[in-house]
Amino acid sequence: MSMIKTVATTPIAGQKPGTSGLRKKVPVFQAPHYVENFVQAIFDSLEGFAGKTLVVGGDGRYFNREAIQIVLRMAAANGFGRVVVGRGGILSTPAASNLIRSLGAFGGIVLSASHNPGGPDGDFGIKYNIGNGGPAPEKITDAVFARTTTIDRYLTLATPDLDLDRIGEVALGGATVSVVDPVAAYRDLMARLFDFDAIRALFASGFTMRFDAMSAVTGPYAKAILEGDLGAAPGTVINGEPLPDFGGHHPDPNLVHAKHLLDLAFSAGAPDLCAASDGDGDRNLIIGRNRFVTPSDRLALLAANAHLAPGYKAGLAGIARSMPTSGAADRVAAKLGIGCYETPTGWKYFGNLLDAGLATICGEESAGTGSDHVREKDGLWAVLLWLNILAVRRQGVDEIVREHWATYGRNYYSRHDYEEVASDGANAMMADLRAALPSLPGRRFGDLVVASADDFAYHDPVDHSDSRNQGLRILFADGSRIVFRLSGTGTAGATIRIYIERFEPDPARHEQETQAALADLVSLAGELSAIRRHTGRDAPTVIT
Ligand code: G1P
Ligand code: ZN
Repeated sequence: MSMIKTVATTPIAGQKPGTSGLRKKVPVFQAPHYVENFVQAIFDSLEGFAGKTLVVGGDGRYFNREAIQIVLRMAAANGFGRVVVGRGGILSTPAASNLIRSLGAFGGIVLSASHNPGGPDGDFGIKYNIGNGGPAPEKITDAVFARTTTIDRYLTLATPDLDLDRIGEVALGGATVSVVDPVAAYRDLMARLFDFDAIRALFASGFTMRFDAMSAVTGPYAKAILEGDLGAAPGTVINGEPLPDFGGHHPDPNLVHAKHLLDLAFSAGAPDLCAASDGDGDRNLIIGRNRFVTPSDRLALLAANAHLAPGYKAGLAGIARSMPTSGAADRVAAKLGIGCYETPTGWKYFGNLLDAGLATICGEESAGTGSDHVREKDGLWAVLLWLNILAVRRQGVDEIVREHWATYGRNYYSRHDYEEVASDGANAMMADLRAALPSLPGRRFGDLVVASADDFAYHDPVDHSDSRNQGLRILFADGSRIVFRLSGTGTAGATIRIYIERFEPDPARHEQETQAALADLVSLAGELSAIRRHTGRDAPTVIT
């Protein structure tokens, strides 16, 4: 095509994709050629996409529209035959995954920084997903990074911006751009997986709910499905309009940033269910009346009850969880007699297990739960599965959680994050601790005896790849556990995550306050890591 422009460029440092693609502050992405370099590095790392389909969309955050116009022009110039984009540039991460799969697309580009804040000084991100709908495996992200260090040109078109707000098809260079309804295909998928009639009957019986879309991408999806299809009362969905700066809020549905929901759930006249999702719609928060459900327990509970929904009535093939996620799901897998897989942190590690039919449901302690219906975690899916279970069991969340603990035991669990600490101190802390691991087994600390200590490594049973250095684990004889790892998604300095877990089989001891139940492990974690000396911090930034 004569319109294709080849633009000379030079490598830009720091374009290394982390756990979930490339994440940086907005001004970094706004630097000349920055987006172009990274997107071209993606295309240069892929083979055989000429004439094929690319799905593009994002969570609507600041710079979403600008970045999408760049991606569309470059996709056409690089030879994709069709680019499918959500109206307004909107696609939740799970909806993008679904579109890639249902259209048989070659892959997709998702523009999001997930639960990180947005706006001119907020975060932005670019992630490439492969044809199975899931995040690109390390093989590809490593190739992309290598290419960013040598790149010398990118391909684009000299064309004006397209109108992304009108559904329909337009020609762009040699490609066709289809602007589609971002909700429709996802809504159809949910209607196939869940018993919408039963959930409609639940709402009709007086069941009440509050879903906070946090002014992020799930608003249109939640309004269409919850208030539209399922008959939830108008006003069930709050903060339902996606805003470029998320209304100035931090779209992370945790107990800090969604504290108002926790307060509501514990107030007189609380709704039966409070729920939320994050910036790009892949995480979930679930709070019943007077009962917060931890993300690790959410995975275990959904796995134990999934067969109550039509999409899972044949049972589960297996359960997968990230290593730092609590072992609660393992107990469900053991009882069901199905496989249980422990993977490194990051959804991409679940892809092979799901594709191979080894796992049906997966989850992470960071509030991501999902299944083989797409290849991303899925916030609204988790909420709908809860609703389906509640509709069938006709019990409250609290009652269901207690019964679960009585059956399987309770895994007390908490994560302590030290955000934006100096990288040198964080690295030194991890190095010292790694060096000390071999000396720990057999040592006694109060009631706790170290059974084993290692740096978690994963061997993928499907493609036989190995991933090392995925977190330092100290396992105790009574099943308790402390895990240390550095975040791969932070955009400033380093974030240290400490994961603490204790198993309690005795139902008489299931109503302790979580931090109190974990206090000895928390102080031991501080002692063993010397975190105060290494970081100068007295306390974590966030406790979840
Ligand atoms: C965090 C979570 C991890 C999740 C990722 C993307 O990564 O811990 O479970 O997959 O965000 O949502 P981290 O910052 O810990 O590397
Ligand atoms: Zn997210």
